[in-house]
Amino acid sequence: MTIGICSDHAGYEYKSELIKYLARRGHNVIDYGTDSAASVDYADFAHPLARAVEKGIVERGIAICGTGNGMAMTLNHHKGIRAGLAWNKEVAKLVKEHNDANVLVMPARFATLTMCRIMVKTWMETEFAGGRHQRRIDKIPVKR
Ligand code: RB5
Repeated sequence: MTIGICSDHAGYEYKSELIKYLARRGHNVIDYGTDSAASVDYADFAHPLARAVEKGIVERGIAICGTGNGMAMTLNHHKGIRAGLAWNKEVAKLVKEHNDANVLVMPARFATLTMCRIMVKTWMETEFAGGRHQRRIDKIPVKR
């Protein structure tokens, strides 16, 4: 699978480790930055990742910042994105099974690296359940 990944400075270290983890598991990973632990603004990295998912350049995305909220808020401004914040294995499973998240967002300051690896694995191995969850997803866009 081709996976896009991004982080801000707070998630930089985890991003570097997750890139290695995903590569070991045979995935093709495209890194949308940041490229160091120097302070940056999460939106500068979330938007390019969102566009790559929307254009089909990558099949799924992973985003990491301190709390996960800045990344999730930015990503979810994009029409083709359902970015879901997860902080443990159960939530990572449900964010795919119930919410069909095409971007997994994780909080580097509130989850261990080991937990992030578990969350990535779980989210990637889980199927969307469809049915009533599809109906709920269909109601997410704002109707004007
Ligand atoms: C950076 O200090 C922090 O604000 C950012 O990583 C994130 O938590 C924002 O939502």
